[in-house]
Amino acid sequence: MERKTAGEQTGMGDFSISDVECRVVEYLSTEYEQCAALRDRELRRPLGMTLSQQERAGDALGVHAAAIHHGVVIACASIWNHSAAVTQIRQVAVEPELRGMGVGRIIMSFAEDRAMASGSRKALVHARCAVVPFYQRIGYRIEGEEFMEVGIPHRLMLKDL
Ligand SMILES: CC(C)(COP(=O)(O)OP(=O)(O)OC[C@H]1O[C@@H](n2cnc3c(N)ncnc32)[C@H](O)[C@@H]1OP(=O)(O)O)[C@@H](O)C(=O)NCCC(=O)NCCS
Repeated sequence: MERKTAGEQTGMGDFSISDVECRVVEYLSTEYEQCAALRDRELRRPLGMTLSQQERAGDALGVHAAAIHHGVVIACASIWNHSAAVTQIRQVAVEPELRGMGVGRIIMSFAEDRAMASGSRKALVHARCAVVPFYQRIGYRIEGEEFMEVGIPHRLMLKDL
């Protein structure tokens, strides 16, 4: 069977930001598997890695959010308790063909709303240096020094909720 491109899967031709719906997806559901595939393809493979079985097993303890367009996952983010008042948002990725259209802002806003609803006062990200300007644009500030994670430089960033 021919593999559909992201554009075909998402119906890129009729993509409309107002048709994007964010929701929490159940661990090991079809939507979770689409999120895992997106993470593997966009966050791990470019670094010569794969989404490990250990990482997948650990996902059982987190909350996983997806942005969905016409039934297809187009972005993901995972929401983890960092401490009583701080939520860490991880594994943020948007389908490459749909970047720069506000999808990243929407999935982050959804994750931040969930964090606030659970009593968090701050959201924390380990931002790849290449995308620090994205996080700054949506209200995050850099804290502390650059550090290495998955073999590339990162910055810790925080946002007051
Ligand atoms: C980073 C990422 C999630 C951003 O998603 P996106 O859907 O492209 O972002 P949005 O369109 O919602 O952008 C929101 C704002 O940030 C800006 N922005 C987004 N990416 C940017 C970048 N790389 N550099 C500068 N500004 C950026 C947009 O221009 C927009 O600004 P505006 O308010 O003036 O319109 C997406 O590019 C991605 O998946 N990258 C690869 C995976 C990755 O690096 N994930 C983060 C791991 S820490």
